[in-house]
Amino acid sequence: MLLQHQTWQEVETYLRHSNGIILPIGSTEQHGPNGLIGTDALCAEVIARGVGDSASAMVGPTIGVGIAVHHMGFAGSMTVRPSTLIAVIHDYVLSLARHGFRRFFFINGHGGNIATVQAAFSEIYAAYEGALGTALDQELRCRLANWWDGKVMHELGKEVFGDDEGSHATASEVALTQFAFPESIKQAALDPPRAPSGRFHGPADYRRRFPDGRIGSNPGLATPEKGKRFYEAAVPELAKAYAGFIGENA
Ligand code: NI
Repeated sequence: MLLQHQTWQEVETYLRHSNGIILPIGSTEQHGPNGLIGTDALCAEVIARGVGDSASAMVGPTIGVGIAVHHMGFAGSMTVRPSTLIAVIHDYVLSLARHGFRRFFFINGHGGNIATVQAAFSEIYAAYEGALGTALDQELRCRLANWWDGKVMHELGKEVFGDDEGSHATASEVALTQFAFPESIKQAALDPPRAPSGRFHGPADYRRRFPDGRIGSNPGLATPEKGKRFYEAAVPELAKAYAGFIGENA
């Protein structure tokens, strides 16, 4: 149930029985030679829609550009400053809170967003509960869930891709976009098949160490069928987490 596809009357009706909403958040950054630049935002959005359907929950607009400074050495990558992202999350949540939403479940597709999203939650709590003070039933509660995280997802990653899963432009996220957008599957030679691993500093250092953009992954092993397995594992896990979040006391 996409917020953007509802009328205001339908949103009012929804709010009579639920004050929860799912907000996808990702990034727009290079994902190697066969990964889409939108991978992190697309994965978060596709999975959020699945969770929304499964949990009969409203899904809000995707925050599509995240913290991606170190990818800026590659064409097409975009980034926002942490202060910008904090402001956007704060304003999205407070806009929705105005209408009665109180539980905000962010489904995240990008590890680089985690620290800033948590800082945004602190900003919201300070501005709202801290400054205004609220009754228990009016509390705003925000939760961050990374779609690729958790025991089930890690085990699946290991089973399907082993050490070729990697840490950026991962085999599983590329597979997931291939499942969701088969018309956009890219063919590219990956040399070496599994990219090097390691740390990095800024965008220039990143590009020097990881010249094709991948870190530790072999997304040449990605297929739409494998992507479907990740989708089908992530959706029920996150639907369960959403239900738990919504159901906590009241
Ligand atoms: Ni990614």
